[in-house]
Amino acid sequence: MQTLERQAERTQPAGTGSEKEQAVQRMFSSIARYYDLNNSLLSLGLHHYWKRQAVAQLASDSNLILDLGAGTADLALVAARSLNGNARIVAADLNLPMLKVGSRKVSRAGLCEHIVCVQATAERICAGDAAFDGVITGFCIRNVGELSMTLQEICRILKPGGRLVCLEFSRPVFPWLRRLYDWYSFTLLPWVGRKVSGDKTGVYSYLPASIRAFPDQEGLATLMRESGFATVVYRNMTGGIVAIHTATK
Ligand SMILES: C[S@@+](CC[C@H](N)C(=O)[O-])C[C@H]1O[C@@H](n2cnc3c(N)ncnc32)[C@H](O)[C@@H]1O
Repeated sequence: MQTLERQAERTQPAGTGSEKEQAVQRMFSSIARYYDLNNSLLSLGLHHYWKRQAVAQLASDSNLILDLGAGTADLALVAARSLNGNARIVAADLNLPMLKVGSRKVSRAGLCEHIVCVQATAERICAGDAAFDGVITGFCIRNVGELSMTLQEICRILKPGGRLVCLEFSRPVFPWLRRLYDWYSFTLLPWVGRKVSGDKTGVYSYLPASIRAFPDQEGLATLMRESGFATVVYRNMTGGIVAIHTATK
């Protein structure tokens, strides 16, 4: 936690970011306490499975991993438990309330030696070129202000041959699933979000809108290639509701 407090003093105030960034950060601050509970309810627990599958795409001999947009540090925790014992993970996020929840989970899990939580922005990552063996990001890049800049930054900080594993909502592949998913995400999801977290900032209405506005599987793969990645493959999960893109530098 000390790391977080020191970082907070050094980091620019939220007001200096783009309008989208500020709005997104207000939303995550307001739901941080309920984020994990809501995630489990709204995905019917599936997010744990998706996250394990994403971590499995990282090279098992990775020593230094960045979990970008780590939020409450779920992916960092799964990675720390499943990668080799020497692996160190930097769990980075712009949002302090989310990171504080994550930092407490890391302490409770006894994994402070393996995971460090830091406040950082995805568009300008405070790391040298080729610093990381792998980058994992879950449900973050849909929210960033500058998607191409973020992908280029990730490519820059990866070692040659290093992997970006990106777990993100995507486009369901079956028309019937798209219709069901539309009803779920525009009706049920905002209602449950409001009931559970008393959300007044509209985060659970923003969520489906941001998913629709985000590139689909092929669109994201193209952006990754344009950002400097040599190869990109993706795997649909749960009928394409989410996809895991693995991009290699
Ligand atoms: C939906 S949460 C995902 C948290 C976690 N990765 C998970 O899978 O449960 C998205 C996270 O991305 C972070 N985020 C959004 N924009 C960001 C940016 N520009 N830089 C760093 N983090 C960002 C948010 O603060 C939030 O914690």
